[in-house]
Amino acid sequence: MTPGTHDCAPTLTDAQVFDFCCKGYLVLPAVVPDEVNRRVMDYVSTHTAHQPMELLTAEWFIDGIFKNPAAAGAVRSLLGPDFKLPQNFCNHRVECPQPPQGWHRDGGSIYTERLDYLQVFYYPQDVPPEFGPTEVIPGSHFLRCKANYMAHLRSVKLAEKTTAPAGTIFLTVYSIWHRRSSSTANGIRNMFKYNYWRTAPPRRDWPSDPDFDLSWPQTGGTPHFEQFKNEIEAARMYSWLCNADYEHTGGQCWPCGAPEKLDCDQEGLPQGLRRHG
Ligand SMILES: [Fe+2]
Repeated sequence: MTPGTHDCAPTLTDAQVFDFCCKGYLVLPAVVPDEVNRRVMDYVSTHTAHQPMELLTAEWFIDGIFKNPAAAGAVRSLLGPDFKLPQNFCNHRVECPQPPQGWHRDGGSIYTERLDYLQVFYYPQDVPPEFGPTEVIPGSHFLRCKANYMAHLRSVKLAEKTTAPAGTIFLTVYSIWHRRSSSTANGIRNMFKYNYWRTAPPRRDWPSDPDFDLSWPQTGGTPHFEQFKNEIEAARMYSWLCNADYEHTGGQCWPCGAPEKLDCDQEGLPQGLRRHG
């Protein structure tokens, strides 16, 4: 194994991988043990730098957070074997109360079906709404928008706050729209943010679920900025993760959702993803 990489068993199922492609994020509540969270909180109480670099090479931090079994299993499912561990990170340490940030994508965002890296967040402390948890807009990772237009948005009905107990880790597609929500409490909120990287070509080797039927996506009723578009882009990403040829001719064919599932593959489903041959 290359230094700085990690491998473990993938843990997400077909449905969870597709759901990640649709929403652009996955929350793993309270997966870091309390003693690790407390150690991190002790450390950041006296090391208040934006990048407390000593933690980046501390074995207990790497094992407890970067190689956290639940997080690493999810990362392994999405990025394949021998993924690269974070080489950099920062602590978004905020003195509350604060007004909300503007909606934005982080610098370096591109729009692609490829999933070559993940942006991951870790809360070492409880982050109720009063402490301004990060807010995300499900499905926005495929949505192109000029920063100037985004800045005009205020509250967005579809947005979801990542309100979380201590030890929560959440994975995102890098380009998802997000912001720090407003906070009303008095105190410090810490949140670590870092990236993992793919080293292997995509392959569908996560646990398969015989009940998962990609042929008839049932996401049509999910609210989204662009009606009926989310499952199309999500299916493109899922196909890339499966190393299957993506085809979409438009009209009433895969990957458009349908109210009823039929006992056949929908027209247009890539050969490698068919269940009925
Ligand atoms: Fe950001």
